[in-house]
Amino acid sequence: MTVERLQKIMASRGVASRRRCEELIASGKVKVNGLVASLGDRAQVETDRITIEGWGELSPDTPTLVYLMLNKPRGYVTTVRDQRERPTVLDLVREIPQRIFPVGRLDRDTEGLLLLTNDGALTQRLLHPSGMVQKVYLARVDRLPTPQGLDYLRQGICLEDGWTAPAQVQVVDDSHLRLTIHEGRKRQVRRMLAAVDSKVLNLERVRLGPLRLGKLPRGSFRHLTPLEVAALQKL
Ligand code: URA
Repeated sequence: MTVERLQKIMASRGVASRRRCEELIASGKVKVNGLVASLGDRAQVETDRITIEGWGELSPDTPTLVYLMLNKPRGYVTTVRDQRERPTVLDLVREIPQRIFPVGRLDRDTEGLLLLTNDGALTQRLLHPSGMVQKVYLARVDRLPTPQGLDYLRQGICLEDGWTAPAQVQVVDDSHLRLTIHEGRKRQVRRMLAAVDSKVLNLERVRLGPLRLGKLPRGSFRHLTPLEVAALQKL
């Protein structure tokens, strides 16, 4: 059992960001064993009764928040359970005891950075259509778009579900493109490239907002660092 600062206990259980938890404490909204807490107070979640106005009571059963980065391989569906019993991304993170969910979706054949968490508030923020979270994809294509095709991608292109926002597009070499988008429509990168006559042979997400895939091996996952979590919470 550990004695920890109140804001740390609260933030790790998903009450709010650490800064917001400090504000809640400072404004007298947090009580420990029935007494209004002050900033700097410490507590022990197993034995102290911590109540937060407008949120409820923290108990040892309140799950700890986890944030994982997975390097998704091909062939895994991004869902919690697949009707057709295909392997899912959760099969790759079996040892994590918390009930976690993928944030957004990568196609079965897309590889790369997938965030999994049990932080519902963060998930909602990241997936909200008004969000401008950048996603960077590396695409291997059968042939590069023409200069005019690249211009179309950069200006926004008309797909069957409407115009895309302008994308940042860099030609990496004679078969690879790096695309930065902030929307999250179904098979968006594949459809954008198909619209300019390039077929995607391989697609990998290498960045999601402040998170970079780096050298995480395919099929492996790691916990985000506190700095990475803080950067996500700021979005
Ligand atoms: N765009 C796609 O086409 N597929 C993905 O998995 C992600 C973005």
